[in-house]
Amino acid sequence: MVAYKSKMVERIRLPSRERRERALEEAGYNVFNLAAEDVFVDLLTDSGTGAMSDAQWAALIRGDESYAGSRSFDELESAVREVMGFSRVVPTHQGRGAENVLYGTLVSEGDVVLNNMHFDTTRAHVANQGGDPVDCPVEAAHDLAADEPFKGNFSIERAREVVDDVGAENVPLVISTITNNSAAGQPVSVENTRRVRAFADEIDATFVIDACRFAENAAFVREREAAFADGAEIVEIAREQLGYADALVMSGKKDGLVNAGGFVATEDDALFERCKQRAILYEGFPTYGGMAGRDVAAMAVGLREAVEEAYVTDRLEQVRGFAAMLEDAGVPIYTPPGGHAVYLDASAALPHLSSDEFPGQALVCALYREGGVRGVELGSFAFPDTDRPELVRLAIPRRTYHKEHLEHVVETAAVVLENRETISGLEVATEPTVPELRHFTAALEPIPL
Ligand code: F0G
Repeated sequence: MVAYKSKMVERIRLPSRERRERALEEAGYNVFNLAAEDVFVDLLTDSGTGAMSDAQWAALIRGDESYAGSRSFDELESAVREVMGFSRVVPTHQGRGAENVLYGTLVSEGDVVLNNMHFDTTRAHVANQGGDPVDCPVEAAHDLAADEPFKGNFSIERAREVVDDVGAENVPLVISTITNNSAAGQPVSVENTRRVRAFADEIDATFVIDACRFAENAAFVREREAAFADGAEIVEIAREQLGYADALVMSGKKDGLVNAGGFVATEDDALFERCKQRAILYEGFPTYGGMAGRDVAAMAVGLREAVEEAYVTDRLEQVRGFAAMLEDAGVPIYTPPGGHAVYLDASAALPHLSSDEFPGQALVCALYREGGVRGVELGSFAFPDTDRPELVRLAIPRRTYHKEHLEHVVETAAVVLENRETISGLEVATEPTVPELRHFTAALEPIPL
């Protein structure tokens, strides 16, 4: 059931087909280089692109901009304690700031770090510390059709193999990312989280949860995990699941429902002190941490809204409804859909293109050319030299788009598929200096059909 009405609107425009053609060419067939004004429906990310509520805008006005001892920080502390169950909070400018603070504190040269799947910035922060980030997904994570409830889970079996190989003394940190963004936004069960906690204890490692999408994950748990089938509240599930961790890293730009912000949270006094010191160096004084006081205030409200029944129901229904419309229109997708996005199967959509012709990127460009829709490739262009499936992520910003916008995306995808044989592959024209980050800035060009 719809849970919102609009109180403020933002004008959007579909540029002419000629303009879209030209914009794509000027962007080097890389949609990160497009001007947002040239995009009609922007599904590049669910990060920081959501709409704030009237209560959040009200909190913004009342934000306390004091350098130290800001009241807005107290509000954030209370919200994190009540919603997530942690009482020591270090605010940061966004999620990767929290990663720098926490992983900069916990990871040293030569350490092996295990994660169900490292998100790009997590992997980069572990590597930046001289650590070796190793993914431990379950087998079904990369199976686009497996009908399993928790394809985001952490594989303890795989983790044990790594530990047997490198020695427990070299694995000081275990992370579970909920939901698992790099595995199509699939959820992680509470049972799996409990087992990861036990495993971390066994090898004497710190256990961190990347809690960016903790509320969406809790909603899946209630639906799919027998122990919670009696209809526990989202906040109860969230607190139980997060409570297994020693610390959280959080990007407020996701389930904090704000445009900027993040934090580290823990119950461990010693870790808290160490994080605070690093936060002062990289973020700011520990009662604002790189955010304006008003953003801290808005995030405190956002965290509470993220666990409201009406919000999570609306959110999951929207993503699921979008997936169902795409399937009805014959568009191949990863199933079941995850929490924050629908992922298109580019290999199935454009079977005439081989991996080295970047079918995902070709599909991203075709969606923009046809309907001004922006998604993101997560396949062989973004992750060279890995055997990930060729996916295109259509992420849904929170509380932002209506059914009509998503219907436009579905119609666009259907037209693209009808004319699939006219879509050519792409090759990299200019490669940036850091190959791992090439999908953000590289320029491509079409390979003539
Ligand atoms: N962890 C996860 C699981 C994420 O998805 C992200 C961001 C971060 C950490 C970093 O947070 O952006 O606030 O610095 N994901 C965005 C995305 C960018 O589009 O998936 P941030």
